[in-house]
Amino acid sequence: MHLLALETSCDETAVALYGQHGLEDHLVHSQTDVHARYGGVVPELASRDHGRHLLPLVEKLLVRAGLAPGSLSALAVTLGPGLPGALHVGQAFGQGLAYALGIPLIGIHHLEAHLFSAGLGPEPPDLPFVALLVSGGHSELVRVDGLGCYTLLGATRDDAAGEAFDKVAQLLGLPYPGGPELAALAETGQPERFRLPRPMLDQPGCEMSFSGLKTAVLRALRQIETPTGRDRADLAAAFEIAVVEVLVEKSWRALAETGGSRLVVAGGVSANRRLRDALGARAAGTAVRVFFPPLEFCTDNAAMVAHVAWLRWQAGERSLAGGSVRTRWPLESLRPPRFNPDP
Ligand code: KG4
Ligand code: ZN
Repeated sequence: MHLLALETSCDETAVALYGQHGLEDHLVHSQTDVHARYGGVVPELASRDHGRHLLPLVEKLLVRAGLAPGSLSALAVTLGPGLPGALHVGQAFGQGLAYALGIPLIGIHHLEAHLFSAGLGPEPPDLPFVALLVSGGHSELVRVDGLGCYTLLGATRDDAAGEAFDKVAQLLGLPYPGGPELAALAETGQPERFRLPRPMLDQPGCEMSFSGLKTAVLRALRQIETPTGRDRADLAAAFEIAVVEVLVEKSWRALAETGGSRLVVAGGVSANRRLRDALGARAAGTAVRVFFPPLEFCTDNAAMVAHVAWLRWQAGERSLAGGSVRTRWPLESLRPPRFNPDP
């Protein structure tokens, strides 16, 4: 049995093959070159680029695996949330292929795929766990009791953590995509020089906010007449440590609120080294265990889509969300597989 998964929700075209023994292979085509000159993702260009690369990627994956399309038993595709045009490219391709092959098409929620991406590592976390989901579009703390059993504990009120990294990177004159660039610059800076706020830490609960930090960086930049490379590196480090401190503290509050001892970190920002180190340090010597996806599965990929689709498929899922694209789609609205039979 082989399941083929497609991911086109934003600016990565990705495909993956999954079987009884787990992930078999995967490919990611990043659209960085397409969007770099615009400083951010241009939705129309993203859709066109997905359309250009999806079929060649699927062909390459099948050739590498020595499989004919007829050997596939099921397909999975990200149905949302994401850019509408980009999602439609994946959905239309998936529907056509599923129809031609006479096999089921399982619609997947992109954030649910991130939630379970640590399961692609050597030691999958047991349930239940608290998930810190930090990507370019979302920052949420979620209690996960099972597949499709999610309780939102808190979320950002404005910018997502990854979005804040990207915007501050732009302020510091770094190229797109900003998050990893900012993290690299921050490695060379002194975080103590600039004292930036820790938004919402003084308020109880798991709600977060990151847009004020961006404004604080802008203010600090304006106070320096001609910022040098050192100034930028120190600001990058000060910003990164402020975000990390908030994420660590809010995660521990979520663990305390739920009585949990397992924290799973997922989404693009889970690749951040300072965040990984700080969470590890906080957990050291306590009963808390922190789980991360392998680095290659932190940012968008189809392996995580295949993984969660396989879990749902094995549990009887055949078609989630009636196959429609959903650009906005609250994670908490998902249900366990048995409640989602064929529409
Ligand atoms: O999960 P993802 O690939 O896409 C979404 O679903 O949004 O996350 C992308 C986000 C971007 O905002 C990117 O800047 C951020 O993750 N990111 C990072 C790092 N790598 C990616 N942020 C901080 N440090 C990193 N090393
Ligand atoms: Zn993502």
